[in-house]
Amino acid sequence: MEVLEGLKDVVVCESEISRIVIENGEAVLEYRGYNIHDLAKYSTYEEVAYLLLYGELPSKSELELFSEELKERRELPPQVIGLLSNLSPFSHPMVALRTSVSYLGTLDKYIHHIDEEKSLEKAKNLIAKLPTIVAYFHRIRTGQKLIHPNEELSHAENFLYMLHGEIPSEVEARALDVDLILHADHELNASTFAARVAASTLADMYACVVAATGTLMGPLHGGASQKVMEMLREVAVPWRAESYVKEKLERGERIMGFGHRVYKNVVDPRTIELKILAKKLAELKDPRWYKISEAIEEAVRKYKGLLPNVDFYSASVYANLGIPDDMFICIFALGRIAGWTAHIIEQYKDNTLIRPRAKYVGPVRRKYIPIEERG
Ligand code: CMC
Repeated sequence: MEVLEGLKDVVVCESEISRIVIENGEAVLEYRGYNIHDLAKYSTYEEVAYLLLYGELPSKSELELFSEELKERRELPPQVIGLLSNLSPFSHPMVALRTSVSYLGTLDKYIHHIDEEKSLEKAKNLIAKLPTIVAYFHRIRTGQKLIHPNEELSHAENFLYMLHGEIPSEVEARALDVDLILHADHELNASTFAARVAASTLADMYACVVAATGTLMGPLHGGASQKVMEMLREVAVPWRAESYVKEKLERGERIMGFGHRVYKNVVDPRTIELKILAKKLAELKDPRWYKISEAIEEAVRKYKGLLPNVDFYSASVYANLGIPDDMFICIFALGRIAGWTAHIIEQYKDNTLIRPRAKYVGPVRRKYIPIEERG
């Protein structure tokens, strides 16, 4: 039995959702065949969510209808607001998020229906409600009044409005919009795979999304952005970056926000866009985080030859959008929910139970000794 550690380079399913390919030393990422750079330039998160769920870009009227459907679903049931109010204010926002997703399942009388129509309904509900859960939890834990969703605002604008209580500037809203687009899907990353494993047992969509949110939280996956921010704060000034990186690497420690399972020695195309966003926000707001990030990027390239991943420049973007450090992973989830739900629906449609094997390496054929006779 050959062991394929970490399922590196193992292809476990066919998918029509996103494609990563390395062409002439350059990585290309496409959602449903559309290049991520085009989507970042021309699209909106609502349009990309539609594309991921339905497989095609929407017409003008389809997009209007879809955006309306999301707006109508933004408000939370009072039971979920009650749950958020009862959580310890010290709970990590990702734990509050995954607990709320599970709770939403208890309020859905069609929870166990996995046909496409009901699944799309659940997906729209989750895409619309996740931002409200995150914003409400933050306001509750900081003792602030809830800011209810505003139907005049887009998905990204409305999230920042519910979080801060102020309508964001165009630049801020667009920065978050593009960030959500860039995080919306990424083939079989660990959290999407977790969602598909759950879906392959025909578990309900809430269970699959809980599996995904739990998996995303780890520092080797979406949790990296929060760790990046801890590093930016620790480094504090660009000139300290080089010695910080050198010493950390000498101690055999990992630099968060660098390296990738798929993009080995090639630039992650999302990083290009995120660096542009981080720079733009730095010019308008606090330039510190971007400058420190650039210095760290240079030092990691020099001492380890590693490139930044999607979580690296996301940190400076979020910091300049006034998002608290411990909510960075939640922003990843607000984007990725479109991809997770699209993958869950795809898995339900053409399902084979995902159940690999393990090579047993423990003791074998041991003689059972009654408890009285054990030493
Ligand atoms: N800092 C220092 N060394 C690293 C790093 C890093 N960030 N990433 C990889 N390496 C080294 C690693 O020590 C190993 O070196 P050696 O062969 O000398 O032992 C080599 O590079 C290969 O690493 P690996 O762990 O075998 O590679 P992997 O494909 O299993 O891991 C990774 C990918 C993302 C887990 C890893 O690069 C990492 O731990 N990065 C830091 C955490 C991070 O930024 N995670 C976000 C991932 S991207 C977006 C997302 O999924 O959320």
